[in-house]
Amino acid sequence: MSLSPPALLLPDRIGLPDVIAYLRAAYPAPGWPAHRNYGELTAFWLHVHASLREQAQRLDRITADFREGRSTPGAFQSAVVPALNHFLQHLNGHHGIEDQAYFPKFRALDSRMAAGFDVLESDHRIIHESLEATVEKARAMLHALGTPGDSRAAVDGYAETSQRLFALLGRHLSDEEDVVIPAMLEHGERRVS
Ligand SMILES: [Fe+2]
Ligand SMILES: [Fe+2]
Repeated sequence: MSLSPPALLLPDRIGLPDVIAYLRAAYPAPGWPAHRNYGELTAFWLHVHASLREQAQRLDRITADFREGRSTPGAFQSAVVPALNHFLQHLNGHHGIEDQAYFPKFRALDSRMAAGFDVLESDHRIIHESLEATVEKARAMLHALGTPGDSRAAVDGYAETSQRLFALLGRHLSDEEDVVIPAMLEHGERRVS
């Protein structure tokens, strides 16, 4: 699937236009929890996104603590490896289930959904590339930390690449919520469960 306007590509985007998030104005976020169609799936979707944001923030803190001298190389490695693995598995699992199970059902709700899900699926591919780059930089960093010599460049490389991944993910999660949550409130969760 191709995206025509380049401004909609994830790294260039500051949000989705109204023509794509066409239900957003009718369902402002502060009113979501009180809506009669707000149920378990909607709450779970938002919970998964909140926990991905928290995991990314925690990884940022772990890295900043080490770069700013508040933790030792040993403590940094024992914290970053499980936190990164857990985050990557969670993210991969969430995107996999969206691509395979949920997004096709949202597309079937209304033909106007297609443009939004073209954008969101393209985001997943871009995030996956960024995720692979982060894994590569993390491996290089762990190798450098386990080898005598200066590891600063490898740590900086990991920090920059992971921050880019977290920024892309943050944009994607917000834009996805603008499309997915109003659609569940409009059509009912049962249509997509
Ligand atoms: Fe997604
Ligand atoms: Fe999501």
